[in-house]
Amino acid sequence: MSAQPTDFLTGEELSGGQLLELLERAVWMKANPLGSDVLARRSVALIFQRHSTRTRVSFEAGITELGGHPLLLRTEDTQLARGESIRDTAYVLSRNVAAIGIRTGPDALVRELAQHASVPVINMLTAEHHPCQALADLLTLRQEFGHLQGLKLAYVGDGNNVARSLAIVGALAGVEVAVAAPSGYQLDPVAGAQLTDDPMVAVQGANAVYTDVWVSMNDSPESAAARVEALRPYQLSDQLLAAAAPGAIALHCLPAHPGEEVTESVLYGERQRIWDQAENRRHAQKALLELLCGPR
Ligand code: CP
Ligand code: NVA
Repeated sequence: MSAQPTDFLTGEELSGGQLLELLERAVWMKANPLGSDVLARRSVALIFQRHSTRTRVSFEAGITELGGHPLLLRTEDTQLARGESIRDTAYVLSRNVAAIGIRTGPDALVRELAQHASVPVINMLTAEHHPCQALADLLTLRQEFGHLQGLKLAYVGDGNNVARSLAIVGALAGVEVAVAAPSGYQLDPVAGAQLTDDPMVAVQGANAVYTDVWVSMNDSPESAAARVEALRPYQLSDQLLAAAAPGAIALHCLPAHPGEEVTESVLYGERQRIWDQAENRRHAQKALLELLCGPR
């Protein structure tokens, strides 16, 4: 039996079996939103060094539903902004809260926080990873198709943090992930993902076609024009979706830029499950918090 994970930084902390159990628990959480009080009267610190709508809302609401108190820490309000170290912050938070979530840029910063914290640390998005998003996405697939093993997901666009987490977490669940991106924006070889520069190749036989923004929060604003130009042929459109497997669904982690990475007709169309993904963040993260903070 695999040991219970202490942190959730990339998704690789989970075994395939633990991931599937977590997703089954997330299905249960969705049906029973107030069914667990695993965080009763405990606090979870949520450090935001980058913007957020879904992550903040789903964690705050989810922690409350688990009986806990979400403690929002915006960097500019904390002593981190005045030079207090990550190490000292980790020590102090660990003396007061049940877990720490962090959204930032460098993955090394999150690893340093986890190294010094004695409570679980959750990656709420870094430049390289967005594993909480991938949990919600697998839950969405699981609910749509009734199973995960053998499904194919095509990711089309920038080979970014979301693509990497889908490849890592998807592989753990037996989901085949293909990434179509242009040269210079392709994902590094990871977790056996199939890499191509041709969206039509990626979507062949795919049960889901996924895209994300072309300019991420951790990308330099100066790179935006070149990114948009290079990624233009990688738009998730009805035509691209039609080339996937029959019954394929469209996914997007949001925020969306209709007319860029996704067309308006896909974003609001019949085959999208995008708004389900946004809701599933809460259910999946509640199951994650229960796994990390529950009795050991
Ligand atoms: N998908 C996602 O993480 O959204 P936010 O940036 O709004 O949190
Ligand atoms: N790749 C995007 C995801 C936003 C949820 C970013 O990092 O900005």
